[in-house]
Amino acid sequence: MMKILVIHGPNLQLLGEREVSVYGKVTLKQINAALEKEAKTLGVALAIEQSNHEGAIVDRVGNARESFDAILINPAAYTHTSVAIRDALAACGLPAVEVHLSHIYRREDFRQHSMTAPACVAQVTGFGKDSYLLGLRGLVAYASQMKPKKKTSAVRKRK
Ligand code: DQA
Repeated sequence: MMKILVIHGPNLQLLGEREVSVYGKVTLKQINAALEKEAKTLGVALAIEQSNHEGAIVDRVGNARESFDAILINPAAYTHTSVAIRDALAACGLPAVEVHLSHIYRREDFRQHSMTAPACVAQVTGFGKDSYLLGLRGLVAYASQMKPKKKTSAVRKRK
């Protein structure tokens, strides 16, 4: 079964009470429940995590190849600043989709650039909770078409 790592970045644990006019009343718990339901329909397994720490996200992405086939990520504020998360996504060799609840290109100037999106296969922005569900569907379709990943730990035969 395909395994997908879902990463929620900083402050997303506050959804439902945080800037409701921008992000709505949906809570992270509700988003995660909707993701689990969608994953069941798609026949994939999820591991869902939230972190407020850039380094923790870098570590998680960096180690993901061992246990996962793809990454769904909302890097939140780190979207706009983190060269380290972008590099981790590029280095990990797994397909990733970036999602945002709000439409980042209609907001403040500093949000209109994503540092991390170029290291992802796609970005979904502006559909609220549905950005996650659409992102998951797209990611599963994309990853299903990829060749099985090679085991990095395998001992290579000498020629
Ligand atoms: C966000 C958009 C970011 O600009 C912001 O810092 C967030 C949430 C979104 O999902 O709309 O924390 O990633």
